[in-house]
Amino acid sequence: MVSKNSLALYGGKPVREKPLPVMHPGATFFDEAEVKAVLEVLKAQSPYRFYGPNFLNITGKFEAEFRRYIGTTFSLAVTSGTAALHTALRGLEVGEDDEVIIPTYSWVACPSAVVATGAKPVLANVDDSLTLDPDDVERRITNRTKVIMAVHIRGVPCDLDRIVDIAKRYQIFLLEDVAQCCGGSYHGKRLGSIGDAGSFSFQLNKMISAGEGGAIVTNDQTTYERCLMFHDTGTPYRGLEEKELRYSIQPFPGVNYRANEISSAILRVQLTKMDTIIRRIREIKSKIKKGISDIPGLSFRRIPDPEGEVAVGLVFFTESKDKAILFKEALMAENIRTPSGSYPGVVYEPLRNDGHVFMHWGHLLPGIERVSNQYRQTLDLLSRAVHIDISPLDGEQEINDIIEGIRKVSSVVL
Ligand SMILES: Cc1ncc(COP(=O)(O)O)c(C=O)c1O
Repeated sequence: MVSKNSLALYGGKPVREKPLPVMHPGATFFDEAEVKAVLEVLKAQSPYRFYGPNFLNITGKFEAEFRRYIGTTFSLAVTSGTAALHTALRGLEVGEDDEVIIPTYSWVACPSAVVATGAKPVLANVDDSLTLDPDDVERRITNRTKVIMAVHIRGVPCDLDRIVDIAKRYQIFLLEDVAQCCGGSYHGKRLGSIGDAGSFSFQLNKMISAGEGGAIVTNDQTTYERCLMFHDTGTPYRGLEEKELRYSIQPFPGVNYRANEISSAILRVQLTKMDTIIRRIREIKSKIKKGISDIPGLSFRRIPDPEGEVAVGLVFFTESKDKAILFKEALMAENIRTPSGSYPGVVYEPLRNDGHVFMHWGHLLPGIERVSNQYRQTLDLLSRAVHIDISPLDGEQEINDIIEGIRKVSSVVL
């Protein structure tokens, strides 16, 4: 039995001397291959995606490799995950008068991208998987609903069978936001290839990274053409020649979210490492989960398809929100935390500003705090959810420390 005073929080010796490694999966795998790929673009003096003196068409090659990896007919590289969401929504013709259903727990980019199209974000609760609750999605549908945005959050795929069924029955588009679950799958199909379009981010915390970057995938030619035109300032003639296609759509205004050849060069190399990175993270998480699975009073987040998760986070629920806060603080003191101290965390803490939770989206959804009682299910779950990062840099020592830290804290706090 661990005594209260043995917790570092109350003056005991911490499990670790130093914090855990960072969780920047793709970037921690950078090596000479990425360096060589970047130098090739620089030496060619051709960093622009459409032409240059020694044009290498690296972005076109990345797009071809990415669509093959995901299993779709089309893919388009853009500058960020937010740009990908905005472009995909415009690709699906979302605009003023439309509503887009988004989960209460995702990232502020999700409602922002909807607002950027002129449409209205409509929130639906998450369930014990912390992804969209299909029953609540169905309740939120109106005759203005154009898209359901299913966000595969913190490495876990949504309940796609049920969400696809709802989208089909109501003839609504399904957009998968795969920013936090790149390389994941659902019942054997890669995430992003199941909905009408999929959106990805290659920011630093993502499975593969170029610091910034994003992509859209789809099987629908019209959606692809709209995305292509929108992301390239509404240019109605560029980008299709190499595929021997012609635009079949009417021109409309766009923005500039064009990817550059340097980022694409990095991403081509990163893509070849994706499966290794995912395998490593999954192995680490499964060892940690095994080491703490018998702890009474601690229940794990539900994973709709355990074979398809990419495992970047470990989330468990305590019985009350006070216990969750204490659990997190005690883990921090044990140095079971990231160097920046951003994890472990309790997913929703009212006083901590965090763009993942709808209560912090008042600037995008004016008055949302006043109707928060409609989202009690979300707030109850998120305020009892403790989450820690799983880094591919965690070795046997870190894995054992995480297990020891969680067991030590549980025996006092739960
Ligand atoms: C779920 C989700 N969607 C969208 C984004 C936006 O991606 P980016 O930061 O590349 O714009 C993020 C990113 O961080 C995210 O986590």
